[in-house]
Amino acid sequence: MQKPVTKVIFPVAGLGTRFLPATKAIPKEMLPIADRPLIQYAVEEAREAGVTDFIFVTNPRNEKILQAHFADNEELEAFLAERGKTAELRAVATTVIEQSRLKFCHQDAPLGLGHAVWCAREFIKDEPFAVILPDDLIMAHPGCLKQMIDVHARIGGNIAAVEDVPRELTYRYGILDVSHDDGKLASARGLVEKPDPEKAPSTLSIIGRYVLDQSVFEHLDKMQAGAGGEIQLTDAIAASMKTVPFHGLRFEGERFDCGSMAGFVEANAAFGLRLSLHAEYLRERLSRHL
Ligand code: G1P
Repeated sequence: MQKPVTKVIFPVAGLGTRFLPATKAIPKEMLPIADRPLIQYAVEEAREAGVTDFIFVTNPRNEKILQAHFADNEELEAFLAERGKTAELRAVATTVIEQSRLKFCHQDAPLGLGHAVWCAREFIKDEPFAVILPDDLIMAHPGCLKQMIDVHARIGGNIAAVEDVPRELTYRYGILDVSHDDGKLASARGLVEKPDPEKAPSTLSIIGRYVLDQSVFEHLDKMQAGAGGEIQLTDAIAASMKTVPFHGLRFEGERFDCGSMAGFVEANAAFGLRLSLHAEYLRERLSRHL
């Protein structure tokens, strides 16, 4: 029996420089895809997977804005109720997280994803936990994290979401050195962070979803810098492999790389089309630009 996964870490301390000037005064994770900010998709995915505690690794500026998004806003709710705006009230209700379930900590310097996760260590006890990178938006039913937690309940260990990428793009991802692959679950004998295409051990890459054993902190504690001079989560997972088995799960769903402008715009079109009552209109209008 595995312990249940009840906590998720969101590494959201970045300044979102690729999205300036949009991110001058708001966190990148607050940029909307269709009707809601990126971070809300991540929270909804975690909730669907049974997660109850949400830990944001952020900075003081982003904390205030994220906190406001997930807190009660009595004034707004009273205003909407008074006007009989029930759909809008429902939309606001989906954002509210009980205060005691929201945790914030700060990453003071951009030292890498491993460092960001390490910053949240005090909130994780003797239990597995999830990590979601909200930039990687995944359209899936059930959600990607739910798929992973279901697998984790069966096999435990460390699990990351994976998908095949074109070989020329391996330099952007953590890549698996695959030892066994049944087409759904791949076990690995090693992981390499952002290898050049000619050195990549495979094209199976990690997407921003992890279910991790707390022992990963023992490796992160060592603060060893890896690729790009940063403390890499990939390296800590790889270092755990002798004692904690690692599997990559080929999730069912479609991933949008919202860390890039192209992926962000594509996600807006895809989610907008899903949501829109005017899908035909949107399709027709969009096709004019293709
Ligand atoms: C991070 C991880 C990388 C992973 C990627 C998924 O990289 O370090 O292993 O493949 O997320 O999006 P980043 O995109 O933060 O540079």
